[in-house]
Amino acid sequence: MAGLTDISSRFPGLADGWARFDGPAGTQVVDSAIDAAAEWQRSGRNANSHGAFPAAWACDALVERVDDVMGELLGANPAGMVYGPSTTANMMALTRAVAHGLGPGDEIVCTTLDHDANVAPWLLAARDSGAVVRMAEFDPAGGRLAADAVTGLVGPATRWVAVTGSSNVIGTMPDVRSITSAAHASGARVAVDGVHLTPHRAVNLSEIGCDVYATSSYKWYGPHAGIMWVEPTLLDELAAYKVRPAPERGPGRLQYGTPSWEALAGVEAAARFLLDTGFEAIEAHEAARFSRLLTGLGDLPGVRVVGPPDTADRAPTLLFLVDGHSPEAVAARLAESRVAVWHGHNYAVEAMGPLGLDEAGGVRAGVCVYIGDDDVDRLLAAVAAL
Ligand SMILES: Cc1ncc(COP(=O)(O)O)c(C=O)c1O
Repeated sequence: MAGLTDISSRFPGLADGWARFDGPAGTQVVDSAIDAAAEWQRSGRNANSHGAFPAAWACDALVERVDDVMGELLGANPAGMVYGPSTTANMMALTRAVAHGLGPGDEIVCTTLDHDANVAPWLLAARDSGAVVRMAEFDPAGGRLAADAVTGLVGPATRWVAVTGSSNVIGTMPDVRSITSAAHASGARVAVDGVHLTPHRAVNLSEIGCDVYATSSYKWYGPHAGIMWVEPTLLDELAAYKVRPAPERGPGRLQYGTPSWEALAGVEAAARFLLDTGFEAIEAHEAARFSRLLTGLGDLPGVRVVGPPDTADRAPTLLFLVDGHSPEAVAARLAESRVAVWHGHNYAVEAMGPLGLDEAGGVRAGVCVYIGDDDVDRLLAAVAAL
């Protein structure tokens, strides 16, 4: 079946022969991103920004290049790129600033499909400001969050809508474009958690129209870093919690301290890797392996795939249960066959109840560019052997 032939040779971390279905928790790093981070640190350009000597200028130039490639990757204005250690940290910085402008009578809409990084920061903002959070619920039968389940909660009191671009446990992708246009029509802002969407689909923020979009490069073959795009006018308006010398305008307002230059060098290379590989090829490769996985698991007696049985509008990520074995026990047994999967709720805490799962969650397997048919077959054989 068509695929990204030989792409796994670009990932040194795969040399130990494990089948790595743990990509939704963090992928292996592509060679060019590893080299870029190392080369940066060897180069003598490791300095700080806005100085009066060449190494400092190189830091400024690096940020400009990362802004540009992230703008290209996300179809967004490069002036809105905020760099931080993680999406969780970036969302906390955002919501702390947002909370300053909220008060009793204001509402925030969150969803039960989201990772807690796009729920808890809003709950805290509501706690601190007196605003109220309303939860939009996905359909437990189909695992999909209908746009009107979100927009039905949006009214004149709604100030923000926080919604995922793709579930990190069952992959489903809400129609964030429709949600954004309805929210904007009501005067509300929209923050999209794009962490699970970015590695799997071409994203165009100028089409989606959202105000904030967060992604983490360690989910797409790069280093551990969070990139949060904030619409530049909003960025300047937010009551950012910042140290006094930090810039009064632009991304520096929400960036806490010196960014990791070495990580940014890796982010540039990882974003370039996605663009050069192309999302048409990525989608085709992942769809074929995901169908093989979904069908194969569905055919095994005693195995229940949680969430939708189909692949429409969905990242190649699923959750499953095996009769008589806890998710953790399944993950441990698969590890004996050198198959890496994740178990638990994966921080999608609101989604577990509607999916009929308890604290123990499920077993999560994610397909990404370096998963081959042989990896899928190894996972299926290991589950069959339980
Ligand atoms: C959908 C989603 N959102 C947010 C996060 C949090 O990202 P970070 O670890 O960069 O804070 C994750 C991480 O698993 C995720 O999968």
